Amino acid sequence: MKVITTIQALTAEIQAAKQAHKTIGLVPTMGYLHEGHLTLAQTARAENDLVVMSIFVNPTQFGPNEDFESYPRDLPRDIALAESVGVDLIFAPSVEEMYPQDGGIRIHAGEQAMILCGASRPGHFDGVLQVVAKLFHLTLPTRAYFGQKDAQQVAIITTMVRDFNFPLEMRVVPIVREEDGLAKSSRNIYLSESEREEAPAIHEALQLAQDSFLATGEVGYALAKAKAHIQARTHGRIDYIELLAYPDLIPVTETTQQVLLAAAVYIGQTRLIDNSIFTLK
Ligand code: PAJ
Repeated sequence: MKVITTIQALTAEIQAAKQAHKTIGLVPTMGYLHEGHLTLAQTARAENDLVVMSIFVNPTQFGPNEDFESYPRDLPRDIALAESVGVDLIFAPSVEEMYPQDGGIRIHAGEQAMILCGASRPGHFDGVLQVVAKLFHLTLPTRAYFGQKDAQQVAIITTMVRDFNFPLEMRVVPIVREEDGLAKSSRNIYLSESEREEAPAIHEALQLAQDSFLATGEVGYALAKAKAHIQARTHGRIDYIELLAYPDLIPVTETTQQVLLAAAVYIGQTRLIDNSIFTLK
């Protein structure tokens, strides 16, 4: 496995792979790898000749009061983990390498970014699209791998790929969880022992709401059940719990086929997200 930090070195590797007619799988991450990230890499390994993982804590997707500075970082550990699942190339650039100058040009996410995480994190998805578009141009992937854990991110990037004709296939990998149901996240490390014990209530609440909605078709009732569960089981503050048509992220109608049930909850200072995507019959 090679670890590279410059765009010039990355471009040389990608050109060589293209000349050899290799397929390229890209796994974009912000590092501090856990099994969720590794599952994306394993899926990419099974489907491509060359697997590229980017590790870059992207400043442009963090708000001024968010955790960019304190976001967990451990490149040596990430390198060992990535190697263990067969990643060929790690691209771990500095902020200066990725953003040497700012011409002020931005990609703006559309209406899909006004709700859910976008409502409480203004500009977040614009920053995600900025870095993901750059990574797509730099690695020219045949397939790009994202986790359903960030379902809104997947929906918005998929729209960018469609609207801007990126010639790649989006691959979405199911949420990887801890044994007690908590979705794996680099931010789980922020949780105190008691917060960690409360955190699985988010997944439980989503399951309760999903069962209720499938049984009754009542959105309001299902969401109230989920909120009550989180309020009873945690000291957390609910940012949102919503049920929307997926991937459009619009209210559910009679013709809706796929539903996204998504939640963001502050457990202490830590904002955790989770979701479930399911089909209506
Ligand atoms: P990061 O939070 O590091 O996540 C990298 C990828 O891993 C994302 O596609 C995310 O959905 C996926 N992932 C995280 N936890 C997961 C879990 N428990 N199960 C399955 N997949 C999981 O998302 C980002 O980074 C950034 O926004 C990025 C796309 C890299 C742009 O900076």
